[in-house]
Amino acid sequence: MKRLAAACAILALSVSAAYAADDPITIRKALMDSNGAAAAVSAGMLKGEIPYNPLVAKEAIMALRAVSHAYGSFFPAGSDKGNTKASPKIWQDAAGFQAALAKFRTEADAAAEASGKKGPADLAAFKTVITPVLGNCAACHRNYRLK
Ligand code: HEC
Repeated sequence: MKRLAAACAILALSVSAAYAADDPITIRKALMDSNGAAAAVSAGMLKGEIPYNPLVAKEAIMALRAVSHAYGSFFPAGSDKGNTKASPKIWQDAAGFQAALAKFRTEADAAAEASGKKGPADLAAFKTVITPVLGNCAACHRNYRLK
């Protein structure tokens, strides 16, 4: 069973790598849509509109973390053109964009680390770890996404 799961994971990775080469814009938008959904569920719990659930919180954190690690791989040269809101600054100020990604990644890693096996124990614990992660959305969009 374990071996099958590993084989599937490897297959999924190689399929997504081939797909990435074809259409990085579609993939990076899908990753950001995942960010959007994870942020919405997080905000819902923080505002008390959705009852707090540690496993849901952990799922949101892990989804954000996965995006934070993958996202930088989908900006090959030339992908500033097309159906995209990626700012030309991503390529002009590559170091700045890398720094924004690194900050997002570091904070998402810290949230994942702090959330333990079963997720943050309560809403206060979740709020402490998720707030810095969510601060990256607007910060990066302000600099690197077109209106
Ligand atoms: C390091 C930079 C960076 C961070 C951090 C970041 N984004 Fe984005 N986001 C972008 C860029 C660049 C685009 C435009 C990509 C494109 O159109 O090709 C974008 C686009 C989006 C979109 C539109 C996707 C689409 O389908 O067109 C959503 C939704 C989104 N981001 C949500 C979020 C949320 C929520 C967070 C925080 C949890 C976040 N982003 C963090 C850079 C970032």
